[in-house]
Amino acid sequence: MLAGDLGRGIGVIGAGYVGLTLSVFLASKGVRTICVEKDEVKAGKIMRGVSPIHEQGLPELLQRVVRDGMLEARTEVGDMLERVDTVFITVGTPTGSDGAPDLTQVKEASRQVGEAMSTSRTATPLIVVKSTVPPGTTWHVVRPIIEEASGRACGDGFHLCVNPEFLREGSALQDTMNPDRIIIGAKHSEAAERLKKFYEALYHPSKIPTLVTTPANAELIKLATNAYLALKISFINLISQICEATEDGDVGVVAEGLGLDPRIGPLFLRAGLGFGGSCLPKDLRALRWFAASRGLDTSLFDAIIGINRAQRLRVVEKAESKLGGLAGKRVAVLGLAFKPGTDDVREAASLEIIRELLARGAEVRAHDPAALDNARQVIGESVIYCHRVEDCLNGADLAIIVTEWPEYAALDPSTLKSLMRNPLIIDGRRILNTRRLIEAGIRIHTVGLHNPSA
Ligand SMILES: NC(=O)c1ccc[n+]([C@@H]2O[C@H](COP(=O)([O-])OP(=O)(O)OC[C@H]3O[C@@H](n4cnc5c(N)ncnc54)[C@H](O)[C@@H]3O)[C@@H](O)[C@H]2O)c1
Repeated sequence: MLAGDLGRGIGVIGAGYVGLTLSVFLASKGVRTICVEKDEVKAGKIMRGVSPIHEQGLPELLQRVVRDGMLEARTEVGDMLERVDTVFITVGTPTGSDGAPDLTQVKEASRQVGEAMSTSRTATPLIVVKSTVPPGTTWHVVRPIIEEASGRACGDGFHLCVNPEFLREGSALQDTMNPDRIIIGAKHSEAAERLKKFYEALYHPSKIPTLVTTPANAELIKLATNAYLALKISFINLISQICEATEDGDVGVVAEGLGLDPRIGPLFLRAGLGFGGSCLPKDLRALRWFAASRGLDTSLFDAIIGINRAQRLRVVEKAESKLGGLAGKRVAVLGLAFKPGTDDVREAASLEIIRELLARGAEVRAHDPAALDNARQVIGESVIYCHRVEDCLNGADLAIIVTEWPEYAALDPSTLKSLMRNPLIIDGRRILNTRRLIEAGIRIHTVGLHNPSA
């Protein structure tokens, strides 16, 4: 087993999508892992081997590593530094005021690690910032906080690295097991070397492309990656609007042709209802805020954000015009999670669309295979939440596909027709077979398609 090469043990602070997945993976590789989660409910679940999040493969592995005693969850850092050599900081960095990232959780975690270090006998622990932060944060915010709380100097009493995370929700465990690149930012080569060796041992025999650079570059690589992905999505969504206005236009075919150009590539060219989730919108805002704070041009970032919002509102406009007004109309919203495979509704297209539908007087029924509870916490009781997709569609004047869960693609046209009061569908994610639905007598508007029938 590799555990010996990976040190005595690993600490992880913050058991969200990133921290919990990392903890479970490390523990499954035979590394004793201590996961600190300040939310008592979440921590309690993890202690019992129950996953607080919906991620493929995670519940089974979590149960196993907790049963085997490889993963310990707790709510305080406590004496963790006595038992681990490396600590990953994986706390949240939500958007704060003015689009600036709110670094409260990062600062608190840094202080807690520093305090634990001040009484610890561990000589030079390695602290790794995995949270997504703006350039300069690790060196100019995290380092001084740890130094002050610990009474130790960086590079001597402890080592510090930035190591951004690139996992995708919905395949978080797979992505953590098989990362396509490792980015390490450090001021001291010893710190970078330690983290590099750690990953070599963890992923042995695979060789993962690894880039070692400065902390600020590493931080910027993460933000720039997400901004670029958001750019691709907004670009293809703008093209999808043009397709709708073009005779025989189909953005799927246009994207396929675009993707054949090796300089462009086929990925992230799926038109739909735009990007959401906990990363792309917030990281784009963080980069925009950083550029604005340095007096730089932000117009490209503004356009990406603007197109994303417009793409969602267009669907509601379309619904209103198709139904001749939304007041009193029953709308079935299929999908609440920001993408399939997750229960995360942070910045999901569904939230904005539902808010608009309600504001225009519609009666909204919503279905999602995983995210009903999370959505209810955000939206409240103004929506009827349905556990069965059939209940959601029953008596509806319109159904909108908002998340591309596979079960929606498999919906039978005749069932749809018999359940709905008015068989009209807006396919916001381009997953339905338009021809089959039209043949079954259903009117359908597909995003990015010239839709003469709907
Ligand atoms: N979710 C993703 O897909 C993803 C992917 C790549 C990078 N990231 C980045 O990774 C970071 C974490 O993201 P996430 O989605 O896992 O966040 P999350 O909000 O799901 O989880 C963060 C967790 O940290 C806990 N926490 C905060 N402060 C703490 C403290 N002092 N001690 C113990 N626990 C504490 C919170 O209670 C929460 O459970 C963010 O910066 C995010 O931008 C996220």
